[in-house]
Amino acid sequence: MAEEAGEIIGFAGAWIVLDEAHITNIAVLKDHRGRGIGKALTQALLQYAANLGVVYATLEVRRSNEIAQKLYKSLGFEYVGLRKKYYENNGEDAFQTVKHLHFHILGKRKMTWPPG
Ligand SMILES: CC(C)(COP(=O)(O)OP(=O)(O)OC[C@H]1O[C@@H](n2cnc3c(N)ncnc32)[C@H](O)[C@@H]1OP(=O)(O)O)[C@@H](O)C(=O)NCCC(=O)NCCS
Repeated sequence: MAEEAGEIIGFAGAWIVLDEAHITNIAVLKDHRGRGIGKALTQALLQYAANLGVVYATLEVRRSNEIAQKLYKSLGFEYVGLRKKYYENNGEDAFQTVKHLHFHILGKRKMTWPPG
């Protein structure tokens, strides 16, 4: 969550199951958008997941949501498929995306190589 002056101005959420973090939602209050809060929240969530040993993050984004798509692209999410009529409220398609967190994890681990 992002807080300012005692008010919650943004949040990011994910389901973490085994080696996958599925990002369920990221939202920033209208008056606070465009200040880097959405990006910072997403990065913090990815780092949290990577620290738990999660290997990849997935998320769906509406075909029409170009702002969110730009955010996810800038963070290295890659388009992997189309989920037709994914959203129940208006039947809109979703772009399915994935980001591998492998390198975050390598950065955190103390590597001993070769093993033994
Ligand atoms: C998507 C959302 C969370 C972005 O939050 P934000 O705090 O405004 O985003 P940031 O200021 O961190 O910007 C991150 C990136 O988003 C993109 N972006 C943000 N505002 C943008 C705008 N008005 N036009 C185009 N791209 C924009 C840019 O790529 C930006 O990166 P850059 O500044 O390095 O170019 C926010 O717009 C929101 O809450 N939207 C409604 C809910 C939603 O659509 N959530 C996503 C569901 S999948």
